[in-house]
Amino acid sequence: MATKGIVLAGGSGTRLYPMTAVFSKQLQIIYDKPMIYYPISTLMIAGIKDILLISTPADTPNFEKLLGDGSQWGINISYKVQNKPKGIAEAFIYGEEFIGNDQVCLILGDNLFYGRLDFLRHAILNNVGATVFGYAVNNPQEYGVVEFGADNKVLSIEEKPAEPKSKFAIPGLYVFDNDVVKIAKNLAPSPRGELEITDMQKVYLERNKLNVETISRGIAWLDTGTPDSLLEASTFIHAIEKRQGRKIACLEEIALEYGFIDRAKYDQTVVNLPNCSYKDYCVQVADDIQGR
Ligand code: G1P
Repeated sequence: MATKGIVLAGGSGTRLYPMTAVFSKQLQIIYDKPMIYYPISTLMIAGIKDILLISTPADTPNFEKLLGDGSQWGINISYKVQNKPKGIAEAFIYGEEFIGNDQVCLILGDNLFYGRLDFLRHAILNNVGATVFGYAVNNPQEYGVVEFGADNKVLSIEEKPAEPKSKFAIPGLYVFDNDVVKIAKNLAPSPRGELEITDMQKVYLERNKLNVETISRGIAWLDTGTPDSLLEASTFIHAIEKRQGRKIACLEEIALEYGFIDRAKYDQTVVNLPNCSYKDYCVQVADDIQGR
């Protein structure tokens, strides 16, 4: 069974206004590239080739302009317009046809991960039911929160609880089996009128099919919801890239390194980039990758 990838890049991004007055949140810049590159890189590194991007009527054309059909990176990117956002879990209804008979990995377009992504590859390979993640943070009340009991048994999942029962936030990265489509269609809207992703997780929990894997602090999961966190994410990416001389979420590099495209296709993709430091990097890094 294959795994499809969905990137949800909707929402009005009002917390970042006026930055988001013209461009959506997921098109904002994280140091040297648009935010959307990062979640797409996460899916690619996890081995996912078929990606559906769901966004608003106004923003979808911008994503299409930026990312195209993905063939330059050896992947398939298709698009679906979400007319009126009605919650994260609605992505599975929009994605029904795309998901087909496969399982699906959903990533929110504003979630950035850095570090060894083995935890995700492992989850995709071994998923039965649903697999979500727990990541200890300072401000769990701003996220979905998971409570663990003895033997790491999941006791509860709550959306932005005023009094969190643990420090474990649930990042916007989820793996669901094919039942997710049917469940999404039968999910009742929350009091705020949305199909909540936490309610989806609760259904799997009730069915005893929710697996929550904790992600170690060796992985960075970055927030981008406020001007401060956006700047901090940029600073973080800048610091690592400068120190290592390697870019994070360079989709051309990942495509070559993970075998989505061969060197000839890579050179063809890179030659089409405008002259810029990103292109210079792509030219230089290919020999590094192949020389290793
Ligand atoms: C959403 C989810 C929340 C999750 C978070 C991760 O919240 O509802 O459960 O922890 O994404 O980024 P939002 O950021 O859309 O308010």
